Amino acid sequence: MNAVSSFPYLPTASTTPLGMEVLRGLTARTKRLSPWLFYDERGSVLFEAITELPEYYLTRTEREIFAEHGDAILGAAGDSAQAILELGAGTAAKTDLLLAAAVRHRGEVAYYPIDIASSALDQARSRIAREMPQVSVQPIVSDYTRSLGELPGSERSRLVLYIGSSIGNFEPQAAAALLRRLRRQLAAGDRLLLGVDHVKDRTTLVRAYNDGAGVTAEFNRNVLSRINAELGGSFRPRLFRHRAVWNDRESRIEMHLESLVAQEVTIAALDLTVRFRRGESIHTENSYKFTAEAVKALLARGGFAPRQHWTDARSWFGVYLAEAV
Ligand code: AVJ
Repeated sequence: MNAVSSFPYLPTASTTPLGMEVLRGLTARTKRLSPWLFYDERGSVLFEAITELPEYYLTRTEREIFAEHGDAILGAAGDSAQAILELGAGTAAKTDLLLAAAVRHRGEVAYYPIDIASSALDQARSRIAREMPQVSVQPIVSDYTRSLGELPGSERSRLVLYIGSSIGNFEPQAAAALLRRLRRQLAAGDRLLLGVDHVKDRTTLVRAYNDGAGVTAEFNRNVLSRINAELGGSFRPRLFRHRAVWNDRESRIEMHLESLVAQEVTIAALDLTVRFRRGESIHTENSYKFTAEAVKALLARGGFAPRQHWTDARSWFGVYLAEAV
């Protein structure tokens, strides 16, 4: 180990998760970066801002469903709600509505939010402790996309929340595999509550990912700033254009960063030079959209029996309750 070096970007980062992902993605024939790279501190703030944009209906619509149907959802979850686990909980703002319903149903609840962002979990814990003393919060810092490990609360019946359309980032194979890994950690009768974005008209979908204020464009380009800051990259984010397109065949919104010019970028920590043709793009995110039939098929592939679902008046978003079978 070289403990005494003043040079911040030794070409050793190729073994860190970030370094590995960037090296793999930018040396591939079709350049891509994984969406988890968005969420450094600035990226998390930008995502919070996205959830409040007029065009970004997802967060607000799911919250509406929880506000309207929280009691029905917790009623249908029944005994499984003794322990509530949440994958990718973040600050768990929307979850409050479900936790409040759980308290009304059960009096007290154990809540296990799981996330890689420990600062978000700290926020969740102090807010919930203050506002809902009947909920005992036990945060777990872990990257559930890599390994689920041993899930807590196994001595009780569990309800796992996987909301916010987070599953939409995974390609169908990977989404089913993730659900199967989850299923293996659960007992028969445990429940899953899955929140997904529905297929709708193209204009509404594209606008949600290409807002007028340009916040999503900033969020997308932030991945380049992050590579600059953490890996000594020389990206000039302004030389990349944000693009959001609807891919009808795959039923997904894709986000890309398109190079406006032919250019070369260096990444010191990876000892790497990346060349871009003018118009060449980096594929940074897929956000899959589902029909009710597609959600039910996905749940079944994952080992869950769909039981009931709730939606908003326009059927823009859906919340699906399923049982581990
Ligand atoms: C956090 C994955 C649900 O796909 O809508 C928002 C991320 N990307 N705007 C989504 C996102 C661009 C978001 N998810």
